[in-house]
Amino acid sequence: MDLSGKKALVTGACGGIGQAIVEALKAQRATVAGTDRIACAQSDISIVGDLTDPVFCDGLPQEAAQQLDGLDIVINNAGVIRRGPVTEATDEDYAVSFAVNVEAPFRICRAAIPILADAGGGAIVNVASCWGVHPGPNHPIYCMSKAAVASMTQCLGHDHAHQGIRINAVCPNEVDTPMLRSGFESRGMDPDTAIASLNASVPLGRIAQPQEIADVVVFLASESARYICGTLVEVNGGKAVH
Ligand SMILES: NC(=O)c1ccc[n+]([C@@H]2O[C@H](COP(=O)([O-])OP(=O)(O)OC[C@H]3O[C@@H](n4cnc5c(N)ncnc54)[C@H](O)[C@@H]3O)[C@@H](O)[C@H]2O)c1
Repeated sequence: MDLSGKKALVTGACGGIGQAIVEALKAQRATVAGTDRIACAQSDISIVGDLTDPVFCDGLPQEAAQQLDGLDIVINNAGVIRRGPVTEATDEDYAVSFAVNVEAPFRICRAAIPILADAGGGAIVNVASCWGVHPGPNHPIYCMSKAAVASMTQCLGHDHAHQGIRINAVCPNEVDTPMLRSGFESRGMDPDTAIASLNASVPLGRIAQPQEIADVVVFLASESARYICGTLVEVNGGKAVH
């Protein structure tokens, strides 16, 4: 999975999975531009911006390519989760979820594909979710948004393979990150206790660590996955969505 000489852009680079992706890409000797709402200390280049801003998303691949002196890999990892049944969802829940989880990857893919094509090919990996493939309870907006990313991955994966661009998605189930922990905190639960009980629901005996998602992202971005296009890879420890 050696990525020597490759230039990568990672969104959500300061988050739980994002940090692990940046570290895993760098461990394979890629040069990484990380973007988030705050500066990412661990990436080689940091681009600060808000993915709900369409102009920022449209310009992000070119900005990364300029700063990195090329672009081979794009990881659409940033995401937000808004919880609760549809009857409790606000317009803002819907707008932010679709802006970050769907519109941003759409805009970034649209802008990145010509850059990757001009360079002779490349790889895009989207971080979707098992909950976008198999709907889980009481998270309709999140599931809908992740289903859209999953579908976009399958569509673009087929449409742009002829340009040497492989587009795939990783679909995790529960991962031990701030996104998961903040959800327990907002419901008045102790995250460590809640995660211990969640671990017991996973056939492999524990929820995922961010590095276990990052390793699959790096695989899909690497030459080891050179014949994989438009695929949704579930990384779930054997746990089905209930
Ligand atoms: N943690 C899980 O259990 C889990 C499960 C399945 C899928 N995922 C997906 O994995 C991805 C990463 O999630 P995570 O668990 O690391 O979450 P996280 O909350 O730790 O990180 C998400 C990152 O995205 C960034 N982000 C959010 N909105 C943004 C915006 N408007 N502009 C710029 N950056 C923004 C945040 O600042 C944060 O650094 C997400 O797409 C998430 O949906 C997570």
